[in-house]
Amino acid sequence: MSLFRTKNIDAMLAVAHDDGLKKVLGPIDLVMMGIGAIIGTGIFVLTGTGALTAGPALTVSFVIAAMACGFAALCYAEFASAIPVSGSIYTYSYATLGEIIAWMIGWDLLLEYGLATSAVSVGWSGYFQSLVAGFGLKLPAALTAAPGAVPGVGTMVNLPAMLIMLAITWVVSYGVKESTRLNNVMVAIKISVVLLFIAVGVWHVKPVNWQPFAPFGMSGVFNAAALVFFAFIGFDAVTSAAEEVRNPSRDLPVGIIGSLAVCTVLYVVVAAIMTGIVPFAKFAGVDHPVSLALQFAGQNWVAGFVDLGAILGMTTVILVMTYGQTRIIFAMSRDGLLPERLSSVHPVHATPYFATWTVGIVFAVIAGFVPLNVLAELINIGTLAAFTLISIAVLVLRRTRPDLPRAFRCPGVPVVPLLSAGFCLFLMAHLQALTWMAFLVWLAIGLAIYFLYARRNAVLHNHGG
Ligand code: ALA
Repeated sequence: MSLFRTKNIDAMLAVAHDDGLKKVLGPIDLVMMGIGAIIGTGIFVLTGTGALTAGPALTVSFVIAAMACGFAALCYAEFASAIPVSGSIYTYSYATLGEIIAWMIGWDLLLEYGLATSAVSVGWSGYFQSLVAGFGLKLPAALTAAPGAVPGVGTMVNLPAMLIMLAITWVVSYGVKESTRLNNVMVAIKISVVLLFIAVGVWHVKPVNWQPFAPFGMSGVFNAAALVFFAFIGFDAVTSAAEEVRNPSRDLPVGIIGSLAVCTVLYVVVAAIMTGIVPFAKFAGVDHPVSLALQFAGQNWVAGFVDLGAILGMTTVILVMTYGQTRIIFAMSRDGLLPERLSSVHPVHATPYFATWTVGIVFAVIAGFVPLNVLAELINIGTLAAFTLISIAVLVLRRTRPDLPRAFRCPGVPVVPLLSAGFCLFLMAHLQALTWMAFLVWLAIGLAIYFLYARRNAVLHNHGG
C-alpha cells in the first residue's frame, strides 16, 4: 500500500507557512498571472487551424473547450483554497490520491509546462522574425528555425526562441515580485491589443461568411475543441503560486475563475469576428490568422499592432509557464521525489534559482533544436489527463477530509467533478493516435524513474508522514 501513501495535509500547511518564499501576491496579480498564461499561441496561431477544422463553428469549439476548463477550474479552486501549498495539482494529489499518482501527475505537469514553454518560444520567434523583417532585418536562415523545420531550407537552430527562453529564465530567477510587475504591464498591453482587434474588426464582419456554419459537422467542432483547448491552458499556473500569495484561500479561486472567464469571452468574440471577416478556407497554411483577418479588412496598421501584442502575449505565457514549472519541481524536490538541490532557495532573491536555471536551459535547448508544430496536442493530452485526476481528487478529499476548511467549495458535487472528468476524457478521445502513443511512452519513463529513484528517496519513505 505504500505506493499510495499520502502526505499529512496539516503538516504541509505548516511547512508552506514558513518556507522562505515571499508572500507578496494579491488577487489582481493572480488574475493577471492567469491571463498572462492563457492568452498566447492558442488564440494568435492555432485559431487558423481551428477554423479550418470546424469552420465558423470554431466559436462553439471554444465554448466546449471552455466548459471542460470551467468545470475543472471549479475543482482546482476548491483544492487551491483548502491546500494553498506550492506545487498545484501535484501537491493536492499527494494529499489525497497517494504518492504514485502524485508522482505521475507531477511528471505529467513537467511535460505540460516544459513543452509549452518551448512551443510558445517557437511561436514567439516566428512573430518576432516577421516583425523585425518589417524593419528590413533578417537573420541568416540557419539561425531561424530548428533543423528540418522548414522543408528545403538549411535551418540549424531557432536562435530567437532559445534567447527568449533564457531571457525569461533570468527574469524568473531574479525575483517573483519583479516578474509579476513586468507580467502585469505586458498582460495589459496584450488585452488592449485583443480589444483593439475586436473594436476594429467588428465593423468588417460579413455574416455571409458564417454560412455554412459547421461545414464539417459536429466531429469537426469536437476535433477543433480538442485542439483549441490549448488556448485555455495556463489558468492552472495560478495555483502554483499558492505559497507566495497573501490571502491564498480567498484569492486563488478569484484568480483561477476570473482569468478563465475573461479569456473565454475574448476568445469567442475573436473567433466570431475572424471567421466573419475571412472565409475560413483562406486560413490554410497561415500562422498569423488574427493579423491576417485585419489585413483582409484593409487595416494594415492595426495588424502591425496585433503582431506586436502577440509577441508580448506569448512572452507572458512563457514567463508564467516557466514560473509554474519551477514551483512544481520545487515541491517535488522538497518531498524527496527529485534531487534536493532543486528546492534550494536563493539567499537574496528568495527564488528557487537552481531549479529555474535547470528548467530554462533544458527547454531553451528543446526550443532551439526541436521543430514543435505538432506538440500542441501532446501538451493538451498531458493537461487533460491531469484535469481528469484533479476532478476525481475533489471527490476523494470530500470523503477523506470533510472537516478541512475550504474558503471555496466546488458547487454541485458530485455532478460538477464528474462532468469535468467526462469532458476531459471526451476531448482526449479526439486527439490523434500518435499523440496517445507519445504520451504513454512519457508515462512509462516516469514510472521507471519512480521505482528506481523517487520511491526510495521520498521524504515519506524515510521519515513517514
Ligand atoms: N494558453 C497558452 C497559449 O495559448 C498556452 O499560448
